[in-house]
Amino acid sequence: MKSISNSSLPTFLVETREEAERVVADEIASLVRAKPEAVLGLATGNTPIGVYRELIQKCATRETSFARATTFNLDEYLDLPPGHAGSFRVWMQRTLFAHLDLAPERTNLPELDGAVSGNAIDAHAVAAHYESSIRAAGGLDLQILGIGRNGHIGFNEPGSSRDSRTRVVQLHATTREDAARSFGGIEAVPVRALTMGVATILDARRIRVLAFGAHKSAIVRRTLFDDVSSECPSTFLRGHADVALYVDREAASELDVVRRSRV
Ligand code: F6R
Repeated sequence: MKSISNSSLPTFLVETREEAERVVADEIASLVRAKPEAVLGLATGNTPIGVYRELIQKCATRETSFARATTFNLDEYLDLPPGHAGSFRVWMQRTLFAHLDLAPERTNLPELDGAVSGNAIDAHAVAAHYESSIRAAGGLDLQILGIGRNGHIGFNEPGSSRDSRTRVVQLHATTREDAARSFGGIEAVPVRALTMGVATILDARRIRVLAFGAHKSAIVRRTLFDDVSSECPSTFLRGHADVALYVDREAASELDVVRRSRV
């Protein structure tokens, strides 16, 4: 692993994504061993899958127990029936929760549960409650993040402000396109979601960001070098007191320092 930081955001180049996945999983495991009641911020999608695989392994071998930990996911779709196969709750259950010793009542997503209809007022109440639940749990110790091709973090799409909090958002076209496969077509992808805000994410004591593959190369470059602004919400990560970005060679391929093969 090589540091390619220009100091705007500490960045590490890995030869394989597995290398980064192991580093981040080891860090999470150390955190949870040192502080069993740690509060973890989780993401869905392709990016964190290998980290989750590593955590499952650590739990299976009894190296690390998550029994006293609490988790808060970044986001969840709105307007899906409970238990819908495309929901992040179902994805998290299948990918991680079913394989760890987490207490089910301490796995949180910003979701409307079955009893609540999907109307806007309920969703706003759930958003406010999610913010206060994170605070009541003591805040996020470590947040895992992927970056959307349009610079979104969580579902904070371009236009999201630095001080945004958990709220209802409209999903952008690129976000819905990227989700189309999980829903069997773009028409079936929800148009609204609940997401932690940019400020909610930046309040995490540590943030570990991962980006793998050529389709992330432009957004990695923009995250590091665009002006810090709502136009590219991932730029807000710069300046966080304890953030690190892990990229493979494909995701780093638009960075001059890598293109010129100086690392
Ligand atoms: C997921 C999330 C999104 C993803 C991002 C990258 O909960 O909030 O911001 O992290 O869209 O997605 P993948 O990892 O599928 O490339």
